[in-house]
Amino acid sequence: MTSVPITTAAPAAFPPRLQAIGTTHAPFRPMLSLNELPEGSMRRVTVGELDVLLVNTAKGVFATDDRCPHMSAPLSIGDLDGCIVSCPLHEGRFDLVSGDTAQMPSTGGMDADGVYHPTWSPAGKDPKIDPPGRKAEARRLTRVRRLRYYPVRIAGGTIEVALPV
Ligand code: FES
Repeated sequence: MTSVPITTAAPAAFPPRLQAIGTTHAPFRPMLSLNELPEGSMRRVTVGELDVLLVNTAKGVFATDDRCPHMSAPLSIGDLDGCIVSCPLHEGRFDLVSGDTAQMPSTGGMDADGVYHPTWSPAGKDPKIDPPGRKAEARRLTRVRRLRYYPVRIAGGTIEVALPV
């Protein structure tokens, strides 16, 4: 008889001030079996028009928007390194524990505190040319916000998330 590995995990702690609006009294909804989200993996689950990113880390299970806080690319097809998730576009990296940006996107812009960061290029690539114009202005004015979190609970091996929908 083959034994099925039992996956255990708990909800991860996140900064309370970064809890998504409308979730304080929202009902928990079943999203995914814990066995479908082994530690070190992430998945998108869509409910209505809301795309939620579920991530199982050594610090527990996080639920946040499956939208990069820069320009909304799906983080679920990026990379996960511990508790840092990397966006598939523009090299942005985000810390799931703090909600902060660990690496600004290569397009630069404003961080969550409104501080401007210039464009940059990964090592070995030519410097990014940023000619003046409306596109450059849009990049300069784009603010990279902090992640927002949906409360998680694990009930009977199922990941449940409080959603405002
Ligand atoms: S959309 Fe994610 S870093 Fe730009």
